[in-house]
Amino acid sequence: MNTIETLLAARRLPALLRFADGRAVTAESFEERRLELVDILCREVYGYAPPAPATVRVTELKCKEKDFAGKGTLRQLQLSFDTDNGEFGFPVTEVIPTGAEKCPVFVFINFRAEVPDRYFPTEEILDAGCAVVRIYYNDVAFDGEDAFKGGIAAMYDRAKYSWGKIRMWAFAMSRVMDYLQTAPYADKSRIAAIGHSRLGKTALLAAATDPRFSLACANCSGCTGDALSRGKVGEHLKEICERFPYWFCENYFKYVEKEEEMPFDQHFLVAAIAPRRVALGAAIEDVWADPNSQYLSACAASAAWELLGEKGFVHPDRLPVPGDRLDAGRLAYHLREGTHFFSRADWHRYLCLI
Ligand code: GCU
Repeated sequence: MNTIETLLAARRLPALLRFADGRAVTAESFEERRLELVDILCREVYGYAPPAPATVRVTELKCKEKDFAGKGTLRQLQLSFDTDNGEFGFPVTEVIPTGAEKCPVFVFINFRAEVPDRYFPTEEILDAGCAVVRIYYNDVAFDGEDAFKGGIAAMYDRAKYSWGKIRMWAFAMSRVMDYLQTAPYADKSRIAAIGHSRLGKTALLAAATDPRFSLACANCSGCTGDALSRGKVGEHLKEICERFPYWFCENYFKYVEKEEEMPFDQHFLVAAIAPRRVALGAAIEDVWADPNSQYLSACAASAAWELLGEKGFVHPDRLPVPGDRLDAGRLAYHLREGTHFFSRADWHRYLCLI
């Protein structure tokens, strides 16, 4: 066995290309398996979301043309839709390159509402000819313990939908996608879900649950994002479940310190986006996220693309080193110098890949 095969064998991962009932997955039955992967992850980790609303209403709150040195239009929109308990809405900020007729769009879920922001180099994105619709995650569901009494959580009965906050944020990304289906400037074949860290976990889940996303960009998403849980260093289920129980459904807690019993691992989440594209970003000093476990997850997930006759993760037979930009296949990974951060260096990678 070569190096990566040996390292992966030591992780003792559940089989990606076998149905839960033991049948082998073929290229023809991959979509059925993909839906099973999504179902397993919703059941065991993130919880189930309510059905999509029939329509999303859009109200323009503000529009400023020729902003950002004239390079873009800045719009603030309110998106609203019917829920089980009446109307719910959240604001988004949209930035569109001036004169764009059809351009790729990032659905970007961020930690702060400011535009630009230290994680949101707006001008550089406009220079690359891309639009962004930015969600501020606390506008959807508060990132803290609120007994699911606020935001979108209050609009549905949690006994019926087991969703945690990550699933709620991903649901909001799909509502932006609903809106983008009607936006004349958006190239519907190039809409990416993007986020950093907990919101990188969210971007992966959004793309796994909504096939209209052509690409998921998950930056430093780590534990319960792109990184394998089995054999991981840094953060484990124990820490993440103790500190952020409201991100998940209750089933997840039973695997704390019992990762080997999970009928899944995080390569299922990455593979659930196949044959669409995935870009994973890691930072060498981000040991909490564990760049090697992020990389090995990509190595394991690649089989899904290969089954479909696509290039998946094209990588050397070694662990990653800073400076690696492995993007010859539909599943890309980069490892940069530095710490846990959504850096311009990361954005530049995703701008090349959208
Ligand atoms: C914590 C958490 C991580 C998460 C990160 C973030 O460090 O343990 O799982 O990715 O916050 O969202 O910045």
